Amino acid sequence: MDFVEHLKASIDIVKVIGEYVRLKRAGPRWMGLCPFHTEKTGSFSVHATHQFYYCFGCQAKGDAIKFVMEIERLSFYEALKLLAERNGIPLPKRSEYSDPETKQRAGIFEMHELAARMFRNALASGAGADARAYLAKRAVAAGQIEEFGLGFADRSGQFLVRRFEQEGFNAEQMETSGLVLKRQEGPGFFDRFRGRLMFPIQNESGKIIAFAGRALAAGEEPKYLNSPETPIYHKSTVLYNLHRAKEGIRKRDRAVLVEGYMDVIGVYSAGVHEVVASCGTALTNAQVRALKRHSANLVVNFDPDAAGANAAERSIQILLEEDIRIRILELEQGLDPDEYVKQRGAAAYQEKLAAAGSYFHWLADRARARRGATVEGQMAALKELLPSIHRMSDKLERAAVAEDVAHYLGVERGIVLEQFRKAALDRRERTPGAEARLSVPAMEKILLNAILASPAIRPEILPRLQAMGAAQRFVTRGIFQILFLLQESGQNIGFSEIDARLEEPDRQLLLTAVLADEMTEGADFREQAEACLKKLEASEREGRRTEVRARLKEAERAGNFAEALRLAEELNRLDSAGAKRTDSGAPR
Ligand code: GTP
Ligand code: MN
Repeated sequence: MDFVEHLKASIDIVKVIGEYVRLKRAGPRWMGLCPFHTEKTGSFSVHATHQFYYCFGCQAKGDAIKFVMEIERLSFYEALKLLAERNGIPLPKRSEYSDPETKQRAGIFEMHELAARMFRNALASGAGADARAYLAKRAVAAGQIEEFGLGFADRSGQFLVRRFEQEGFNAEQMETSGLVLKRQEGPGFFDRFRGRLMFPIQNESGKIIAFAGRALAAGEEPKYLNSPETPIYHKSTVLYNLHRAKEGIRKRDRAVLVEGYMDVIGVYSAGVHEVVASCGTALTNAQVRALKRHSANLVVNFDPDAAGANAAERSIQILLEEDIRIRILELEQGLDPDEYVKQRGAAAYQEKLAAAGSYFHWLADRARARRGATVEGQMAALKELLPSIHRMSDKLERAAVAEDVAHYLGVERGIVLEQFRKAALDRRERTPGAEARLSVPAMEKILLNAILASPAIRPEILPRLQAMGAAQRFVTRGIFQILFLLQESGQNIGFSEIDARLEEPDRQLLLTAVLADEMTEGADFREQAEACLKKLEASEREGRRTEVRARLKEAERAGNFAEALRLAEELNRLDSAGAKRTDSGAPR
């Protein structure tokens, strides 16, 4: 077996995807919210039997490797590597499991690992005295320094460069890593981060992909220096701390979103392990979707200044688009989350979190503050809020919130309902999976499912089917041709192997067939396939009989008695074969 097949056979796609998406069992498949597009009701399905996923909404589909490639933005080889490592399957050293781009990126990953180690060592060394003093001043404990892998970037500017050169990283890796910069004059490189407190940024599987460096002295600009976009770092999709937080997010079914790296560390050490931050950018849909894969509940706890409030308001719109249930926590006396935890303690912060209110009241307060307390002001505030309310998918919840907000703002109930009716007329909801599907006869679905699900029956069933010729008249004949081909050449047969060799509309047919509900889990596939073959054989015979009968009549009419006799005998043979071999096809 080739390695890719071996890997796929050793992992379970439901488990692989379950790390990233909350899945619920629904008959023969698992369902969840699609991580690849925005949706309110789950149309993302994962199929254990055929080991593939499919989204009825956006048509994303593939096997476990493809999923990991897409969700982690990895190359094929990197996805293989990640799955192999996670499942303790040794990866062959052969070069066919790597390509130049993967090697380049692997080098950059290594440079980040190495840099993180050097930063950590530097923090513990003499050179890191200032940084240690700074951390002590901010009451960051040794355990937190270790847990978050904090470090110090040496001031010399040659700290990483020298080591990278020693290790033999090439110029292209140096340039694209984002860790070093090319000199303007003269040859060579120098370190991007100098004299800063270093925060490693990790992707969802915990690999270091970037750094943020904080200035140690007040007033030093910029306060935070971040890694640029690189082949392994796409800012807009990364949430700081998600790899540590995701388990907590699932367990508590909520996430806490803060603004800063220091806030994450402070809040995390207060026992709130479900905390994340965006990396110094406005929240993006991709980040929200990454969160939503683990929970649909979020407490937004931004800094209590104007910038924080504006950022929170912007974020709410994005969160609503992604159908997240949002609560807002605003801490009193201008404290940010980190300061609050340090001054008031973990328990006080946790209480605050538990008591965080709906974002509607928070938005209403802000709108009212802007619009004033006049009747016009109230109406304007309400109108400002309505679009947000209308983003909610649940009808009852929507109506309840509308009433609540109207009451809160002091607007008359009738006016709200009127506004609401108007907006409801514009509201259109797409039902996923309702698009017209190509129809595949039940028999073909059953056969395909049985053949795909059970390797053991293939050596017998496929040649019989091929010999019969019935498959040439199937709606899914294109798929069966591939099946015959793969079987003959001894290649692996699976959903993705077939899919890869098909064109539209055969691809759609394959999906339709394997998504069919005719398929019952734990069914005896041999029995099912056997029953199909019997039926096909019977109808083949029936077709042949009709043909022979017609020719017999023709021969009789033409007075060709020798031919008529031969045909009559053949008809007889067909009839008795039918009587013996089928239980349903009684001879007429
Ligand atoms: P402290 O000020 O040390 O408490 O850090 P903080 O993490 O609380 O940062 P702050 O509240 O000032 O800012 C929130 C986040 O915005 C930071 O964590 C960074 O991600 C980002 N940020 C702040 N200042 C800068 C900057 O000068 N440049 C960049 N690129 N990002 C910044
Ligand atoms: Mn801060």
